[in-house]
Amino acid sequence: MGNKTRFTFAAFLYGFIGASSVLAFLYYTSVIDWPINYGGKPTNAFPSFIVVTIILTILTVTLASLFTFSARAAIYPGKAYILPDSRSTDDKFVIVFDKSMLKGGAEKLNALLLKKVQLKYMKKSYNLKIKRHMIRKKSITALSIAVGILLLGSSCDRTRNDKGYEYFPDMVHSLTYETYAVNPAMADSHAMRLPAENTISREMIPYAYPATIEGRAQAAAELLNPLEATPDNLARGKEMFTVFCQNCHGESGNGDGYLFTSGRFSIKPASLLSEKMLAAPDGDIFHVITAGFNVMGPHGHMIRPADRWKIAMYVKNELQNKTVK
Ligand code: HEC
Repeated sequence: MGNKTRFTFAAFLYGFIGASSVLAFLYYTSVIDWPINYGGKPTNAFPSFIVVTIILTILTVTLASLFTFSARAAIYPGKAYILPDSRSTDDKFVIVFDKSMLKGGAEKLNALLLKKVQLKYMKKSYNLKIKRHMIRKKSITALSIAVGILLLGSSCDRTRNDKGYEYFPDMVHSLTYETYAVNPAMADSHAMRLPAENTISREMIPYAYPATIEGRAQAAAELLNPLEATPDNLARGKEMFTVFCQNCHGESGNGDGYLFTSGRFSIKPASLLSEKMLAAPDGDIFHVITAGFNVMGPHGHMIRPADRWKIAMYVKNELQNKTVK
């Protein structure tokens, strides 16, 4: 028997599907794909999902139920209106009964209606078939569906650098000028300013020795490693050597690093285990790292002074010691 409505179950199902897809969507967008964090406060905090999930679940249930009802009842935009009986007016209405559902026959119903509400049962069948003549309204519907699909499709066109259209950007975008942007308020239009004259940044100790043979010799003679060769410092030196030097100079320091052996760097890096380098003090290595040497570029801007000393210490105490033994 199809008397009992299954609509409640359908609505529950829509709600369940709606809630889980909204949650999955929110999780994907704000946790996996584009996590945003304002000053330590991530936007993917759980409570912020709740409101949106509830609202969208209700929307899903409403729309899906509406569509289901329309589909079941064969109602669609532009469908011709059918008046079952032309005598029905604003104050006189017609109730239509499904013949197949009348238990006890038409006579019983008639008697009941007469007795209770003084109505007259008229045996008459209606042709409730749909008239298909409202082409204009239909084409409007089709057009809006097409536009909707187009809009949906166009929203997928994005690269990883483009956030797409934003719903609720809040304070994501700074109103101030970005570091490398053009700033019309400045005479030279640079947003990033040069430091004030005759000043240096913290920790930026100016390096006094030029990148020449003489500069290198002078640095080697004058600069002393201020750090002790403790296990910690040597470990840090090894770490930094692995990051910044090993590619070229090789794990053992003999000059056969991966960049050279793989042919990506065509000039053989000098061996750090040569007679010359065995005799060179820490200051010599510190200078080459800081200012560079011939083909080798300067690394001073990438490695902090203390780490440069630790690398030098590692080369002398570990790499070279292994060769001497
Ligand atoms: C891109 C590859 C490359 C990297 C990275 C590199 N070097 Fe070099 N290094 C060279 C080359 C090539 C030479 C030889 C330069 C020349 O003689 O023209 C050299 C020379 C040197 C010299 C002088 C050797 C001598 O006999 O005079 C020292 C010392 C040195 N490197 C240490 C280091 C340290 C320490 C690091 C890590 C901070 C490092 N290098 C990173 C390629 C590199």
